[in-house]
Amino acid sequence: MATSIDYKLGAFAFPRGWFMIAEASEVGRDPLALHFFGKDFVLFRGESGRLVLLDAYCVHMGAHLGRGKSSSIVVQGQQIEGDSIRCPYHAWRYDANGQVDEIPNLPGPCPKSAKLHSYPVQEVLGAVMMWHDTEFGEPDFAPPALVEWDDPRWVNGTYDHLGVIPIHSQELLDNMADSNHFGPVHGVPPDYFSNEFRDHLYVQYQGGFRLEYNAYLRTSTFYTGPGLLISRQQIGEIHSIEFIFHTPLDDGSVKVWHNVVMRTDTDTPGDAERAAQRENQNAVLAAFAQDFDIWSSKAPATTIMVLKHERNLLLARAWYRQFFNPRENAAAVHAELNGKYPVAHLAAPDESAYI
Ligand code: FES
Ligand SMILES: [Fe+2]
Repeated sequence: MATSIDYKLGAFAFPRGWFMIAEASEVGRDPLALHFFGKDFVLFRGESGRLVLLDAYCVHMGAHLGRGKSSSIVVQGQQIEGDSIRCPYHAWRYDANGQVDEIPNLPGPCPKSAKLHSYPVQEVLGAVMMWHDTEFGEPDFAPPALVEWDDPRWVNGTYDHLGVIPIHSQELLDNMADSNHFGPVHGVPPDYFSNEFRDHLYVQYQGGFRLEYNAYLRTSTFYTGPGLLISRQQIGEIHSIEFIFHTPLDDGSVKVWHNVVMRTDTDTPGDAERAAQRENQNAVLAAFAQDFDIWSSKAPATTIMVLKHERNLLLARAWYRQFFNPRENAAAVHAELNGKYPVAHLAAPDESAYI
């Protein structure tokens, strides 16, 4: 399994940014044990509805806060109090900031050092997103938002859980710059193709004739940080927005979710519109599965034999590296990279005008 060091990504094994860690509907008062970024976490929803994500292991004697489900206080429904969680072992109570604020039978105050790290979390697009930062800084950009998600004319899909693939997320990122794979893999050679960098955003505009649909496909795709891809797609009269969200599990493996939101002609979509959305989601997923199939069996591209018409692949890797290095260096990356990069033989006058 190739790791971040093998790809020469920088100082950190894991990138900085917002990442999906669960579906919002999966998280309730029953704490979830999660593993991402080579670490264990516990995620729960407090009584106020607030989402709380803490490091998993109790500072006292190391019990996992999200396991030990047979412990009496868990079975009795006494583990969550307000927005706090009690350890299943000796019932030390952690508040939403990770501070121990109550220890049974202890005369006197709790030690200040009894604290776990609490991570920023937000619920957006039906997903729970965490802010991961090896330097433990506050978020310096927002997770993506889409007005269509709350627009009744658009039907939201449910997340496809595509599981864990044993490749580094760098290989998924490469897809954004890879104008030459659309023809062979997806059967849609692009007529126009360009990339654009805007600080923490990375955009791809492309379009071409899709034979199997006998219609023109245009897509406008952007990453918000290193793990959240959202792609606006128009094929004939069908308008969709695809999500591909991926989060490192360990260094060299990645967990992937997929979803599609589809436009309808009505403010009150019914069964027919929901069925059309599901059919469309399956078709979009089938196209993504073509990439997935390649990734699941390929050797790691820790270096690429880059030809002249493929320079965007190298630029994309330069953009991606900002998230694996101290954030104080990111401004220099933005100053160097921000701008549009058409692929010379696929240049269009104004790619952003298409969608
Ligand atoms: S191990 Fe958690 S309270 Fe003792
Ligand atoms: Fe692809």
